[in-house]
Amino acid sequence: MQEVTSIPRLRAWREAQRAASRRVGFVPTMGHLHEGHLALVDEARRRTDTVALSIFVNPLQFGPQEDLGRYPRDLPHDRRLSEARGVELLFVPSVETMYPPGTEIRVAAGDTAERWEGAARPGHFTGVLTVVAKLFHLVEPDVVCFGQKDIQQVTLVRRMLRDLDWPIELAIVPTVRDADGLALSSRNAYLSGAEREQATALSRGLLAARGAWRAGERSAGALEATVRASLDAAPVRAEYIAVVDPDGLRPVTTAVSGTIIALAARIGSTRLIDNVILE
Ligand code: PAJ
Repeated sequence: MQEVTSIPRLRAWREAQRAASRRVGFVPTMGHLHEGHLALVDEARRRTDTVALSIFVNPLQFGPQEDLGRYPRDLPHDRRLSEARGVELLFVPSVETMYPPGTEIRVAAGDTAERWEGAARPGHFTGVLTVVAKLFHLVEPDVVCFGQKDIQQVTLVRRMLRDLDWPIELAIVPTVRDADGLALSSRNAYLSGAEREQATALSRGLLAARGAWRAGERSAGALEATVRASLDAAPVRAEYIAVVDPDGLRPVTTAVSGTIIALAARIGSTRLIDNVILE
């Protein structure tokens, strides 16, 4: 595995892949890697000849009151896991490399970014799409892998690729969960033992709703109520429980195949998100 921090070295690596006619897969991350990130690496390896993974805690996507300063970081751990999983190129740029003084252009997200996570985190998706666009230009991947876990993020990346006529193949990888159902997330590290127990209500609620869907329930209101009942029992208060269409993430009244149930909840000081896609 090669590790690079500079853009010229990254471009040199990319050029060598092109010269060897190797298809490049790319997994952007903010590090503190876990099995969820590594499932993206596995998928990228299945689809391409070589995999690049970036680690960059992007200040642009954090709000002023958010956890940028305390976001968990562990580069030696990330190196070990990346190497063991077959990543060939680790790109670890500094903030100065990604945002030299004077940068001002941003990728403006549209309506789909205003709802749900975007409403709770103003400017978040502009920050995400800007860094993702920069990383795509730097790595020039053939295939990129994103997690279903961040459903609004991957929905916006898909729209960006479409709206900007960007010929990159996007793979969406199902959410990897712990044995108790909790979706793996770097932010789980913030949870105390008791909070972690409470946090399992998120996946319990979503799985209960998926069970109701499989048993024939089609009313979005009833599916939402099923999720809410699990959260109330924990007790966990949801910021939102959204039953939405997969393209624009707009609320639906009747669930169909492909409908998404997404939620956010704060447990202690930690904000968690999760979702299921009804199939
Ligand atoms: P990060 O939170 O590190 O996540 C990197 C990728 O891993 C995202 O595509 C995310 O959806 C995926 N992922 C996280 N947890 C997962 C899980 N339990 N199962 C499957 N996939 C999971 O998302 C970001 O970083 C940033 O916003 C980024 C795209 C890197 C831009 O800064």
